[in-house]
Amino acid sequence: MQPTGPAVSTIKPTDLRGILNYVPRFQNQIFIIAIDGAIVADENFSNVLLDIAVLRSLQIRVVLVHGIGRQLRELAEARGIAISDVDGTGVVDAATVDLAIRASSRVSHQVLEGLTQSGLKCAITNSVRAAPVGIMKGVDNQFAGRVDRIDTEFLRHLIDRQVVPIIQPVGFDRDGVSLRINSDLLAGALATALGATKIVYLTPHPGLEIDGEMRHQIAFEELSTLLDSRPAAIPAALLSKARHAVTAIRSGVPRVHLIDGRVHDALLNEIFSSEGVGTLVYGNDYQQIRRATRRDARIIYNLTRNAVKREELVHRTLQAVEKNIESFYVFEIDENIIGCVSLTVYPDQPDTAEVGCVFVQPYHQDRGIGKKLVEFACLEAARRGARRVIALSTQSFKFFTGPCGFAEADKSILPPSRLEAYEKSQRNSRILVRELTG
Ligand SMILES: CC(C)(COP(=O)(O)OP(=O)(O)OC[C@H]1O[C@@H](n2cnc3c(N)ncnc32)[C@H](O)[C@@H]1OP(=O)(O)O)[C@@H](O)C(=O)NCCC(=O)NCCS
Repeated sequence: MQPTGPAVSTIKPTDLRGILNYVPRFQNQIFIIAIDGAIVADENFSNVLLDIAVLRSLQIRVVLVHGIGRQLRELAEARGIAISDVDGTGVVDAATVDLAIRASSRVSHQVLEGLTQSGLKCAITNSVRAAPVGIMKGVDNQFAGRVDRIDTEFLRHLIDRQVVPIIQPVGFDRDGVSLRINSDLLAGALATALGATKIVYLTPHPGLEIDGEMRHQIAFEELSTLLDSRPAAIPAALLSKARHAVTAIRSGVPRVHLIDGRVHDALLNEIFSSEGVGTLVYGNDYQQIRRATRRDARIIYNLTRNAVKREELVHRTLQAVEKNIESFYVFEIDENIIGCVSLTVYPDQPDTAEVGCVFVQPYHQDRGIGKKLVEFACLEAARRGARRVIALSTQSFKFFTGPCGFAEADKSILPPSRLEAYEKSQRNSRILVRELTG
């Protein structure tokens, strides 16, 4: 499809007030911006980089991933070399990976050059370790790679120092051999590993069309069902992005945008207006939380054992967890329980519920899961008629008073039965409270 021509800027100075609402919300969040090779080649590319500079100036942390499909095809044509794969999803032979490295270096350089012109610090990294896709259904994929490990420490180090990491669609395996990785997949893997709040795919398409009809928003469950049952409903050119959007959301990335990188201001309009201009694929914030069943008791017990040893959580025997299993909720990723929360409503003071046993496996911490568990428990408490939620904490009270919006309180707010248990435990926990509104 041909570009629709330069679109007109739609951001007016008066929109700034609206934009300001978004600023605190996005501050310090990580956005993965994945740019197709075709967009790097488009005349709007320099505007895209300026938009990225705007995001940076608003303290949004950006990691940039680029594709090379267009450049690889052009390079192969110019040199008369037959390539075995364009987008990193098929067999990548030696000649193709060689051209991919060249195309990638050229594109990365263009990105580096453009970001430099926009006054941003940036760095091309070797933060993605690749592993060969290997032999699939009897076919050797040769130099096709998948993501083996992402050096998040390295990337965070750069991001914390205001550097925009540039990630190429070519990674290195343990021996330093270069392998071609599909950039859509790479963006998803990076977003998951870094706990990003958004992936923005910049493509040469207006957005996601379903059965030929443009969709500005789609729930990831609907997209996932379509991908399984009727993939032909989705344009072939966007299938890979749709699949990786679903996988990323399933792994905890809340939102994925597909927008037209050829359109002036599309990136800023999509992020800073409630309507958006492309397609937003969104996850249900609480879909990964479910009520625990008896079968989960041992997992919850094992999960929280180390926190109990560090006195972060109250000791509960396996039998106690089993007995109170109805009060537990668990957070799952790919059917693995990685966090939990408990909610107790006190019959002797039914307007008060207690959130307890909040735990997130260390590997998954700092990605908003703990906060989500607490928010969910508060919603559930309100649904059951509570007007306030209390929490008792010895070491994580700042987690409650900070991001979870609790305030310190004294013993007088505890329901009588809870007060008795509190005095008896001698843990001297801080008492925290959140009044439920709305
Ligand atoms: C406390 C705990 C549940 C937080 O879970 P998490 O998934 O890492 O938390 P989130 O990612 O949702 O954190 C949200 C915010 O809380 C902050 N935070 C996380 N743990 C914190 C703590 N222990 N103290 C203060 N702030 C904390 C984060 O920095 C983040 O702040 P930001 O939004 O300003 O960036 C987790 O660290 C844990 O399991 N700890 C061990 C058990 C425990 O102490 N439980 C609480 C007692 S009931």
